[in-house]
Amino acid sequence: EAETEIEDFAFSFEGPFGSFDQMQLQRGLQIYTEVCSACHGLEFVAFRTLHDEGGPALPEDQMRAYAEFYEVYDESIEDYRAATPADKFPAVTGAGAPDLSLMAKSRAGFHGPLGSGINQLVKGMGGAEYIASILSGYHETPECAPEDFDGYYNVAFAPGGYPEECLDDHGHRTVPGSWIGMAPPLWGDDVEYADGHSTELHHEAQDVAAFLMWTAEPKMMARKQAGLSGVILLIMLSVLLYLTNKRLWAPHK
Ligand code: HEM
Repeated sequence: EAETEIEDFAFSFEGPFGSFDQMQLQRGLQIYTEVCSACHGLEFVAFRTLHDEGGPALPEDQMRAYAEFYEVYDESIEDYRAATPADKFPAVTGAGAPDLSLMAKSRAGFHGPLGSGINQLVKGMGGAEYIASILSGYHETPECAPEDFDGYYNVAFAPGGYPEECLDDHGHRTVPGSWIGMAPPLWGDDVEYADGHSTELHHEAQDVAAFLMWTAEPKMMARKQAGLSGVILLIMLSVLLYLTNKRLWAPHK
């Protein structure tokens, strides 16, 4: 069975001490704005959160100016108006593309082995890896496929269409991935970064994937900090209980 190819990217937010890279989130926001937003919405993300510490942390005036680029429908005036920080990104449905707000948490990059999920324990769930791998996972159509088969061949995308001709005698897939309805959105040098960071396809893909990890879990840093202090507290408590226990039972030994 040909498996999909998910690359294990090293993201700054991985591990118990990892945190979002503010500049990377800003670059990812730029990619989303200039490329992805043509087809994908972010309907659960409020503009004001772009100013949040630990996120892209745009200066307040930039965040306000950014929101004004968007038009939202306001029921109270029954008309469209420029968005304010309190509004959310508009939904985008025209191209039939899924909303990206929670995509990094609703997909996993790593599975198995044998359905055990041990890979996820070691490498993490891999939602951001999955997104970055899709964006850099377009390959030339394999020879087995008929020329008029619909979609674009992608080695990281499993659930898409798959031609009969690329199955073996046992019905197993002979090439990794499947055919996806999204044309390759990134090619490299699609944007110009203000911070001079590389715009190679690989880097652009990681930047927007990191940004989408943040949209899906904006409080990740707070969660990790709370978890870490919890663990430290429990370790201290265990030591104290151990010593108490020793002392309580000492006369009876
Ligand atoms: C699907 C990301 C740009 C159209 C997807 C998926 C992701 C994604 C993660 C979902 C894969 C899944 O269901 O597991 C992105 C990113 C973009 C981008 C990060 C910008 C860099 C675009 C653009 C278009 C588009 C510009 C339209 C021209 C679609 C469509 C699907 C899709 C139609 C559904 C494909 C299918 O289920 O076969 N995209 N996308 N995307 N995207 Fe995009």
